[in-house]
Amino acid sequence: MTGTPRHFLNLDDFTHEQLRGMLDMAHALKSRLKQGNRPQLLKDKVLAMIFERQSTRTRVSFDVGMRQLGGETIMLSGNEMQLAREETLEDTGRVMSRYVDAIMIRILSHADLVELAGGASVPVINGLTRRAHPCQVMADLMTYEEHRGSIEGKKVAWVGDSNNVLHSWVNAAELFGCDLTIAVPEEYSPEKDLMDDITKAGDNARLINDPNEAVSGADLVITDTWVSMGDTDAAERRRVLKPYRVDTKLMSKADPDALFMHCLPAHRGDEVTDEVIDGPQSVVLDEAENRLHAQKAILAWAFGIESL
Ligand code: CP
Ligand code: NVA
Repeated sequence: MTGTPRHFLNLDDFTHEQLRGMLDMAHALKSRLKQGNRPQLLKDKVLAMIFERQSTRTRVSFDVGMRQLGGETIMLSGNEMQLAREETLEDTGRVMSRYVDAIMIRILSHADLVELAGGASVPVINGLTRRAHPCQVMADLMTYEEHRGSIEGKKVAWVGDSNNVLHSWVNAAELFGCDLTIAVPEEYSPEKDLMDDITKAGDNARLINDPNEAVSGADLVITDTWVSMGDTDAAERRRVLKPYRVDTKLMSKADPDALFMHCLPAHRGDEVTDEVIDGPQSVVLDEAENRLHAQKAILAWAFGIESL
């Protein structure tokens, strides 16, 4: 590939129009697939996937998505690569670009992701860092649109921990014009770069502590695990975050038509009860499915293909 590679690292690297184009493509690819049609947009292209941490959805959806587009994948575990013996991310990016057509990586350090992308001459896709999970939030936006139409102007409540999924939602709120209220405990307030992005989002995002206030009248309620990959204080988190559990009482404060989202994996009984995650407002399995369609659109975009 010539020119600057089309990396997909953070939602706020993009304009609204670019992300809108990817979502439109995702909806179109999903509808084609449901008709049994699999456009071979990435025929014979090879995607390398590097996992420094566990994954079910990201791993399977990228693998299946690439195959549906006519391409192939190589699955790599970070600790079986020379990365585990301190080969730099930049050198890894340089070398892998000589073999494969694109790289997807799940790695905790966002700085490491950026370093890999800096060395790579092929597109690099963020499959989750401690800072951001942009593929997840693209699937979430797609899911909201399928169920309720445009998210612009809608009231979105985030309840729980300040983490990577929240960070990408803050970026999405700014880019898609929704009204995001974030309820997190003082003890787990956002770190500086997330706080800076909340400020940058202006009227589209606000931070409070009270989960009831955040959920009141919301069109969409979102939570995630209280213990993300890389967190070491699980017991303390469970104690502090207990008042932020999404149960039927908390959901009843939202709009009666509100949706419930969780990126999964869920820790049932911690951040969400069975009644809510298995209840009629929950769209968690659609979010999981839409990882496939949204990522196919992201992959196509990375190869310069923006419409069918
Ligand atoms: N939501 C998500 O990224 O799931 P996995 O960790 O299973 O990939
Ligand atoms: N916030 C979670 C998301 C898992 C998909 C984590 O980083 O572990």
